[in-house]
Order: sequence, then structure tokens, then C-alpha cells
Amino acid sequence: MSILSDEDIHQINELLKKDISGWFKSRDGGPYLQEFQKKFAEFLGAKYAFAVSSGSASIYVALKAVGVGENDFVAVPAYTHVGSVAPILLAGAKPLFIDVNKYGNMDPEDLRKVVSVMKVKAVIVVHQLGMPCNMDEIKEASENAFIIEDASHALGAEYKGKKVGVLGDIGCFSIGGGRTKTIGTGEGGMIVVNDDHLAEKCKNIRNHGDRVTDCDYLCFNFRMSELNALIGLLQMKKLQFLIEWQVKNAEYLIENLPEYLEVPKPPPYVKNVHYIIGCHFSTEKTGMSRDAFLDKVKEKGYEGGLPRKNVGKGYEKLVSDVKFYARFRRALPMSEYLVRNTIWIDWHRYPRTKDEIDELLKVFKEIC
Ligand SMILES: Cc1ncc(COP(=O)(O)O)c(C=O)c1O
Repeated sequence: MSILSDEDIHQINELLKKDISGWFKSRDGGPYLQEFQKKFAEFLGAKYAFAVSSGSASIYVALKAVGVGENDFVAVPAYTHVGSVAPILLAGAKPLFIDVNKYGNMDPEDLRKVVSVMKVKAVIVVHQLGMPCNMDEIKEASENAFIIEDASHALGAEYKGKKVGVLGDIGCFSIGGGRTKTIGTGEGGMIVVNDDHLAEKCKNIRNHGDRVTDCDYLCFNFRMSELNALIGLLQMKKLQFLIEWQVKNAEYLIENLPEYLEVPKPPPYVKNVHYIIGCHFSTEKTGMSRDAFLDKVKEKGYEGGLPRKNVGKGYEKLVSDVKFYARFRRALPMSEYLVRNTIWIDWHRYPRTKDEIDELLKVFKEIC
């Protein structure tokens, strides 16, 4: 089911007859793009938002804007999507993989350990599955490093009353896929920033130097088209509804999960938006392995495999176990534990209903 109404689709059709790029008349992009950025910035309480072509492009732009380059080190979790890490290598720098806590978020203690022996230029935190990182502790452990938030999973999540994305130096969002992320523009990303100088650099790097014809750093084309921007803009008016839907359903699902699927409780000062529900599976309580359990779920016809209809393993391996990144590997006990023992449930976001959740809960109870 599409989140776009017939009226929305009519508006997209009308745009198809006009300028679908938006960049030839204005170096700020087309009117829909500007409106989309404005609404996104307003939603987060950011001074600026810049739409780009993907989430990983947003992280690359952020890294270059804060001056990450050849041989710099950037701290990042390995328990994440490879798109959080690849931009570090693309920027010429090297990743320092940091372990995570029970939520799958960067462990400030492990970060502190690494920062005490290595000079870290930037730290990329990932608000994993919609759960905000402990930003106070991360900031303290980061010393003077720039902090980039990968908030791709956490649009609308809050830490101590502030939306994630504006808690560090630059916030990055993937808004790729039509249905994978909370809102999707087909492919796309968004950068949010408050600092004027960093904003200027992001803008230039995104658009061939923007107004600077004699730029002394590398710029490129990471622009978002007017067509993608309109698709994003049309979803902004539904964003609050989508977030409330997923949070309400997630809370119901978590409350009714069998005790062998444990979801760690968030601290009271965060709002977890439950992009996906990450459960710790207990072999002890079930007498079966996580994978055997998932096979049984599949046998019952509940594998899903699609965004918003999936029960699965989550990350199949750490980024540091991917061949290309293995040279940066270090021991990450909690990250390794999560890869082996986690079950991700994406069965609660719009348009999944409470009845569908009840059916899934029944399947879990039948298995064990
Ligand atoms: C946490 C996280 N970071 C970065 C990315 C990369 O985003 P994109 O595929 O839009 O480049 C993803 C993609 O799913 C992601 O989940």
C-alpha cells in the first residue's frame, strides 16, 4: 500500500510534464526541493537541511565538510549498514570500529578506550533501529572530534527532548527506498546542520562547488532531483502520523512478545521510534538456535522478507567482517553477540494493523 494518495500522484504526474530536475533554473534546486528541505529542517529544529542523492552520500558530504581526509581516523560501529562506513574510505580516511551496547548503539566506554590511544578526527554514531545513542557520553568520550549522526533509522526519535540529527555537528539521513525508511524518495538522503560554515561547505560539496567557481576542495554532484523531492515533500505532511503509528504498534508488540524475545528497555530520557524492533533471542529459554526458530517462522509462512513485513536476522555480518574492511577488524564482543542472537521484527509500521501483529504473536506462541 502506498503512502501517497491519488491526489499526491496527480501532483507528481503534473510535475512530470515540467522540470523534473529543478537544478537548471536555480543553484538552490527547484521549489519542491527547497520546500522539502525547509519542512525537514523545521521538523527537526535544524537551521539548514540539504537534500542529497542517498544516505551514504549525506555521510560522505558531512565527512568532507568537517575536513576528514587522507589518513584521518573516523570512529564508527561495525554493527551497522555498510553505508555508514563506506563514505569513510571514500573520503580517504580509515575506520576505527567501536563496539556497541545492548541496544546496538555505539558503546561510549569502548569509544573512550580507542580515543585514549588514537587521534580521531570524527565519530559517526548510528541511532540503531530508531533508538537514540547516549549522546552526552559519546560527546564526552569523543574529546574534540566532530560528531556526525547517522540518523537513517531514527527520524523523529528524541534524546532529552531534542530530535536526533541535531545533537552533533552534522546529521545524516537515508531516505532511500519507497518503504524501507520512515519516508522514502526512491533514493535520497538529507543533511541537517546548524553551523553556517559547515552548511556552506555541505552545499558546495553537494553541487559542484555551488556558487564558488574556484573552490579549493573537491566537490561533486550529490543533488536530489525535483521529482524525488516532491515525493519526499508529499510524505512530510504524513510523517507525524507514520511515526505515531509505528511507535504505538511497536509498544503493543513489545508488550506482548514471548519472554524468549527480549527488547531492552530504553532509558526514560529517550524517545525510541522503533524503526525496527530488535529482539535478543534466548536459546536457553527455547532450547533451539535463533536460526532454527527463524526457519520455523518461515515454515508458518511468516518470513516476509519485505520492508514492513519481515521477521529476520538483521545484520548478517559486521561490516568489519566484510572482506574489504577486514583489515580494520578488532574484537567487538557485543557486536558479534548481536549478529548471532538478534531477531529483527518489522511487522508494525504503516500499514500493518494490530490484527496482523496479533497473528504474528500467535505464530510465535505456537512455535514456542
Ligand atoms: C543506518 C544506515 N546508514 C546508512 C545507510 C545508507 O543509505 P543509502 O542506501 O541511502 O545510501 C543505510 C541504508 O539503509 C542505513 O540503514
